[in-house]
Amino acid sequence: MITDLQAALSTSAKGMKRSAIRELLKYLGQPGLISFSGGFPSPLTFPVKELKEVMNEVMDNEANIALQYGSTEGDNLLRELLVKRYNAKGLNIGKENVIITTASQQALDLVGRVFIDPGDPVIVGLPSYLGGINAFHNYGANMIGIPMDEEGEDPVYMEEKIKEQIAQGKRPKFIYLIPDFHNPAGMTMSERRRKQILEIARRYDILILEDSPYRELRYEGEEQKTIYELDGTGHVILLGTFSKIFCPGFRIGWVIGHPDVLDKIVVAKQSADLCTPPFTQRIAARFMEKGLLDSKIEEIKKMYSVKQKGMLKALEDFMPEEFTWTRPQGGLFLMLEGPKYLDTNAVLLDCIKEANVAYVAGTSFFCDGGGHHTMRLNFSYESEETNREGAKRLGDFYKKLIANHNK
Ligand SMILES: Cc1ncc(COP(=O)(O)O)c(C=O)c1O
Repeated sequence: MITDLQAALSTSAKGMKRSAIRELLKYLGQPGLISFSGGFPSPLTFPVKELKEVMNEVMDNEANIALQYGSTEGDNLLRELLVKRYNAKGLNIGKENVIITTASQQALDLVGRVFIDPGDPVIVGLPSYLGGINAFHNYGANMIGIPMDEEGEDPVYMEEKIKEQIAQGKRPKFIYLIPDFHNPAGMTMSERRRKQILEIARRYDILILEDSPYRELRYEGEEQKTIYELDGTGHVILLGTFSKIFCPGFRIGWVIGHPDVLDKIVVAKQSADLCTPPFTQRIAARFMEKGLLDSKIEEIKKMYSVKQKGMLKALEDFMPEEFTWTRPQGGLFLMLEGPKYLDTNAVLLDCIKEANVAYVAGTSFFCDGGGHHTMRLNFSYESEETNREGAKRLGDFYKKLIANHNK
């Protein structure tokens, strides 16, 4: 090993942050630990039997495609099927508007690479998805946090911040939004708010990065149009992924956008991984072609809707009365807010060791360092019974903390 690794590191590597969630995964092996931490789908939703059949067919009939290098833009069949699927839901796109990425996380990284120079402002929600914040941070973004209400990011505050940045000669590079079942805030952005933010983006000529991995996991309420669909002027880059509706192990996501933007992302992707594995892309495409994805999504929605209701009931039964939480219409997470004097990050390891239950501390999601009294719970991974037991352990742990504080 070289003697001074630190000196050898690039400035950006020195500034890179570990993902608090990925770090927590280390503890998942602790016996009896109930984990509400990752955004893991339930393994019971994985279509093992169907996939075995599709895989065999692909190996029998088109191994030459599945096992070969593929184009950086992605498998043509998969892109065509995605175009069909989106257009059936109201979009008006062609194959030139879609590229495949190694899931959404790569898309976030590539968008960061293509648009962010050190010090560039990027608009994000308070809170926002940790993996997005970290990706932009690694390229030196100056994250401008926008407070949120039940409709989404505050447009008045957002516009003020944008004006401030422009006055200093720094036009924000993009506005990062998670409008459907926000991770972690849980809200779904209203159509009115989508239009307001779109209007701001157009007025100041700024891109919107619409990250929507949970969009298809709606358990109640009415579907909202994507911001991409509301736009139609090329101001929006829309990200999708199979991770939460099929299987994250395939690492397949996609970017929908203007061909000029996609072209830049493709060039950046060429030096990242040449192409997303053609093996998983072709299997996913054949799986979709057989109509298996839609039935899978219906099955997943049924399962998670029951889990979400069970989790909400368990929180009511077991959490201290000082806590409140979100009631999202879909997605995989609930966000809890405790009394302001609590620091959920400071006590997280104690909670894991003493109560054998893990969550993600809210501070990870706030680029301004706020949210110390909040936490995010996932309800999709563990069984309903385990979720209930975990909520009880969490409730008991925090009841004790609050009682000690009130002594
Ligand atoms: C908002 C958001 N974006 C992107 C991702 C990354 O997902 P993947 O890379 O598995 O597609 C996640 C994962 O939890 C997420 O919640």
